[in-house]
Amino acid sequence: MNQDEMKQAVAREAIRYVEEGTVVGVGTGSTANFFIDELAKMKFDIKGAVASSEATAARLQKHGIPVLDLNAVDEMPVYIDGADEANRHLHLVKGGGGALTREKIVAQVARRFICIADASKLVETLGTFPLPIEVIPMARSYVARELVRLGGRPELRQGFTTDNGNVILDVHGLAITEPAKLEATLNNLPGVVTNGLFALRPADALLLGTPEGVKVIE
Ligand code: A5P
Repeated sequence: MNQDEMKQAVAREAIRYVEEGTVVGVGTGSTANFFIDELAKMKFDIKGAVASSEATAARLQKHGIPVLDLNAVDEMPVYIDGADEANRHLHLVKGGGGALTREKIVAQVARRFICIADASKLVETLGTFPLPIEVIPMARSYVARELVRLGGRPELRQGFTTDNGNVILDVHGLAITEPAKLEATLNNLPGVVTNGLFALRPADALLLGTPEGVKVIE
């Protein structure tokens, strides 16, 4: 199985978590795209989907799946999304696609967060993948200096603006041994909108695509 086949396998498996007649939260990225394609093939109807990015909203709409405003949704049994890195405690690094803030909001609202990823995403210690941080543009230099103080090497993501009109700093060189603590510390810096650590609200299950098939880590 190649990487795309593993992504497709977990996307197919994730459909089991979708409940008829309910609202589904949908993430962003290539694995989430496979999931959207599977949603479109489903035999039963859902009320609609909440998208974690403009790109995801467009793909859902292309398939004729109703896209709902999160503010109009009371209940969301499940959120399905990929990750850039995951550890065995289901702490994640996300935001490689730049959609981390909306992803974190939708994950927080959902009753269950099911992460779907191919085997390459499972790591012992988070931080090899540069940690994305969404920052309000005027705070960019200040936040970058603070990140250096914390031991990281921030790089401005060139030519990229988030769906919320902000910039992304990708932080290299962090060995993230205490993900929840670092997540809170980063969120406390004025100007930081969100960071890509999902540890305070980790995933509830990780569906991992491996050459031997889909493994469920809970
Ligand atoms: C988007 O901002 C990210 O959080 C994605 O969930 C993450 O980058 C995973 O993307 P792939 O499924 O393309 O690896």
